[in-house]
Amino acid sequence: MPEVAAFSGQRLAGVDDVRRINPLVPVQAQITRAITETHDTKTLYVVGLDGKVPFSLNPGQVAMLSLLGVGEGMFSGVDAGDHLEFSIKKVGALTGALHEVEPGQIVGLRGPYGNGFPLEFCRGKNLLFVAGGIGLAPLRSLVRFCIKHRSDFGGIHLVYGARTPGDLAFKGEIAGEWVAVEDFAISLTVDQGDRDWQHHVGFVPNLLRELKPAPDNTVCLVCGPPAMIKNSIVVLEELGFAAEEVLTTLEMRMKCGIGQCGRCNIGSCYVCLDGPVFRLADLKRYSSEY
Ligand code: FES
Repeated sequence: MPEVAAFSGQRLAGVDDVRRINPLVPVQAQITRAITETHDTKTLYVVGLDGKVPFSLNPGQVAMLSLLGVGEGMFSGVDAGDHLEFSIKKVGALTGALHEVEPGQIVGLRGPYGNGFPLEFCRGKNLLFVAGGIGLAPLRSLVRFCIKHRSDFGGIHLVYGARTPGDLAFKGEIAGEWVAVEDFAISLTVDQGDRDWQHHVGFVPNLLRELKPAPDNTVCLVCGPPAMIKNSIVVLEELGFAAEEVLTTLEMRMKCGIGQCGRCNIGSCYVCLDGPVFRLADLKRYSSEY
């Protein structure tokens, strides 16, 4: 490989040397597929330039995707074995540009970051997934892991809501693979239904209150808009869930991802270094927000 740079008088042999000195330098990766999930959410399949997965992601871990001249952002990913998947909601310039990428296009990728979901803690327990909108994206990595290792976990219950039926992501996967999984209950709700809608109508916390999932030997994983998380936590506590058994992921707060920018702190902890997956009990210790 040709020399690419000189840094502090040291000759660098290639991009790996550059990355050793500066971990913010991404690797080049390519898009192999772009799936439209909803009117504002797409899932990108990503591999390295050699066609292989550049690194593996445990459920709940995140990675930084970047586009030259546009910017970079942290996204939770799914490691599908032969590619990584990132589900991205269009909310700004970077995510808008990522929605325009096509198979074959080059993107920047760095990671993996974060602690991921505590798999050993979850093993042998029932799992209650509570998600709103694109909040299902980070939980999906764990749902898929549980399906793959089904006998390691107890009953699974997904309570998932969005504004309208058209805003529900991963509908094909839910209606295809997930409904067929043994002891996997799925409760869907929307704020506003349409003529074809046959599930619940109303907010996720209200549905939780109605369904009354039992807290016994159950870990609850919550992710979605802040108001949904906050109101769901109120209901979960009413139902008897202990703060040690409720987990959430806060990767949206991560910027640099490596403890350098100081923009992700909650109280004394850094989301990028201590999270992004947290127990509610720990968040209560760090901040009065919870
Ligand atoms: S994301 Fe930069 S310090 Fe945590």
